[in-house]
Amino acid sequence: MRCQVAIIGGGPSGLLLSQLLHRAGIDTVVLERQSRDYVLSRIRAGVLEWGSVEMLREAGVGARMDAEGYPHDGVYLACRNEGFRIDFKDLVGKQVMVYGQTEVTRDLYEARDRMDGKVIHNVEGVQIHGADSDAPYVTYTRDGTEHRLDCDWVAGCDGFHGVSRQTIPASVLKEFERVYPFGWLGILSETPPVDDELIYAQHERGFALCSMRNARLSRYYVQVAQDDKVENWSDDAFWDELRRRIPEDAAERLVTGPSIEKSIAPLRSYVAEPMRWGRLFLVGDAAHIVPPTGAKGLNLAVSDVHYLYHALVQAYEGDEHGVAHYSEQALARVWKSERFSWSMTGLLHRFPDRGAFEARMQEAELDYLQHSRAAQTSLAENYVGLPY
Ligand code: APR
Ligand code: PHB
Repeated sequence: MRCQVAIIGGGPSGLLLSQLLHRAGIDTVVLERQSRDYVLSRIRAGVLEWGSVEMLREAGVGARMDAEGYPHDGVYLACRNEGFRIDFKDLVGKQVMVYGQTEVTRDLYEARDRMDGKVIHNVEGVQIHGADSDAPYVTYTRDGTEHRLDCDWVAGCDGFHGVSRQTIPASVLKEFERVYPFGWLGILSETPPVDDELIYAQHERGFALCSMRNARLSRYYVQVAQDDKVENWSDDAFWDELRRRIPEDAAERLVTGPSIEKSIAPLRSYVAEPMRWGRLFLVGDAAHIVPPTGAKGLNLAVSDVHYLYHALVQAYEGDEHGVAHYSEQALARVWKSERFSWSMTGLLHRFPDRGAFEARMQEAELDYLQHSRAAQTSLAENYVGLPY
């Protein structure tokens, strides 16, 4: 088989890149290890920067998002059970869109179907060959049969555990990592959200977050120890702990119910450089991981796709400037989002080895944020998304 761009991974970044390139007349084949149902069964976050909203509209997958998503003008931060609001609309004239990543991925699959896009599921043993040559190709097996896909470029959209990053020689790849000494215990519940905007709470017992999917589906998180186990947490224990950490008025009106999903996610910051090696590009989680505190995971994947999509369109028009600078351009925005996610994590979590002085620093920073328009503006412009 032959295509112009071989895309490894059928998650949001692989599908969005495939959709945008197809609309620009560039053909792609997406190779995905799992089945479509498995990919869609993953529970992921749900806050879109406005740049991501515009990219999804440009790709022709904005209709359901615009119909069912919730534009938010602000967010609440809380400290010692007292909340204050960051009004993005007033501070930077922008909003975010609350719309689940699973829904974004579903919309992208349906759009690929409508355009007869080539997405091959249940592939095994994907190997990238000749990425440092002018004739790269990908091999894989499916149902026991070996296949070869010749292409001009390879986009590694295969997440943190994919094969693409491992294809880059260790002598070339530089890695940067920070593992946080705690995790997030999250639940999904068919209950009305406690507020019409998200609440990020700093508390001496640990961080908490109140989020949502829609008017009948809520998503809540509490910080837990790194080695904690889901089985240690009954639903009641979760709700009690959440109430202790959020603003009192929210705790009073919190509607609880049985969890329909409950899991613990570790927190880590990770960046791999460079994001290009010859004719192989890394995109999304294949190149970087952010702790979820800044809601940047999906948005950074969309940011990478923005740069690569434009670079490849230019390349097929004979101008290779974009592909030559993809890694540098994408990484410049990646590091800023990593910084924001790291600073939000540092501000809002309880660090086991934290001393009394550090605790005061956190509270002083939250106090400064509460009373400084300049500080709020900085947080707002990062949260809604820095320009591409
Ligand atoms: N061969 C084929 N497919 C693979 C391989 C492989 N060797 N390894 C992984 N994959 C597939 C995975 O099954 C997954 O569906 O690649 C896809 C990668 O998707 P994601 O992990 O969702 O990564 P990405 O598309 O970059 O989206 C980033 O996902 O994890 C969240 O917080 C993250 O929101 C961010 C978003
Ligand atoms: C979520 O809705 O799951 C969510 C929202 C914001 C975050 C992280 C997760 O920062």
